[in-house]
Amino acid sequence: MIVLGIETSCDETSVAIVEKKTNESKGRVLSEKTLSQIKKHKKFGGVVPELASREHSNCLNYLVKSTLKESGLSLRNIDAFSATLGPGLLGGLLIGSNYAKALALASDKPFVAVNHLQGHILVARMREKIDFPFLCLLISGGHTQLLIAKNYNFFELIGETLDDALGEAFDKVAKLLGYSYPGGPVIEKLAKKSNGKISFNLPKPLIKSNDLNFSFSGIKTAVRKITSNSFNSNNKYDLAREFQDSVTECLEVKCEKAIHYFKKKYKKGKFIFAGGVASNLYIRNKLKNLCEKKFIEFVVPEQKLCVDNATMIAWAALERLKKKKRVIS
Ligand code: KG4
Ligand code: ZN
Repeated sequence: MIVLGIETSCDETSVAIVEKKTNESKGRVLSEKTLSQIKKHKKFGGVVPELASREHSNCLNYLVKSTLKESGLSLRNIDAFSATLGPGLLGGLLIGSNYAKALALASDKPFVAVNHLQGHILVARMREKIDFPFLCLLISGGHTQLLIAKNYNFFELIGETLDDALGEAFDKVAKLLGYSYPGGPVIEKLAKKSNGKISFNLPKPLIKSNDLNFSFSGIKTAVRKITSNSFNSNNKYDLAREFQDSVTECLEVKCEKAIHYFKKKYKKGKFIFAGGVASNLYIRNKLKNLCEKKFIEFVVPEQKLCVDNATMIAWAALERLKKKKRVIS
């Protein structure tokens, strides 16, 4: 089965064609093309929804044509069309999903609506065999959640952020240090250059609470207080490092608790790290070490599959189609 997926929920226009053979559990990407709008939004300091919608609408035709060309296929060879239906910026979602629906209608093939978060989580199963149930930490620009994936469509939420998503906190801290969106990769780079000399005593919110929830707005506010008080910009490396260390420690503590909870209930199953923030190598390493200590297998998709992409949308659609689930309207 071959599915064409479209992702337009934020500032990336992405189209992918993914194939899954009936007798194989993994999938194969035949083509993926992604255009980032980062440069267009840069001067505004964040993603401008109207601008994003117009860019998606300008690029989609070209991207669909070039993925078909690269994979050597025509529309007739596509078995289903899929797109992100939410969550995300409404204009972009409408453009991507209506485009995919039109292709489906014209080709007399099914349209499969995909939840963006399910795409982030399920794509790990495209590359290797991961049975349900599994434990998942999903961190993107809008979400920070601990979940137990019970099947392709049923996720039990066992913990989440009570305020900012961690990706958003990375973005805001980078902005306070004078850098533009997306801030996550910038903070990771700055932190690497720190010699670890200065300590700012950043808080580690909820680290002692017994639940599995997170809170990141307090750390961001603490950074704001430091940077607005005659801050020496030479110290930005140390501040970035301490921010990254502090949030990682919060993640480690809550993930350790979640692993205990999961193992007690299910005995076996893997730990999946997903979403844009999962491309952070420092956090990946720390969580990998934790999983080794706790005897649970750690899986994280390759970096380009962690950030927004259409491969994960096409793959999530394939998972639905496997179960004969589809959304036509
Ligand atoms: O999943 P994603 O691509 O889009 C959403 O669905 O939100 O995640 C984007 C978020 C942004 O906040 C970005 O700063 C963050 O992921 N991010 C990172 C890194 N790369 C992207 N955060 C920390 N370290 C990174 N290397
Ligand atoms: Zn995303």
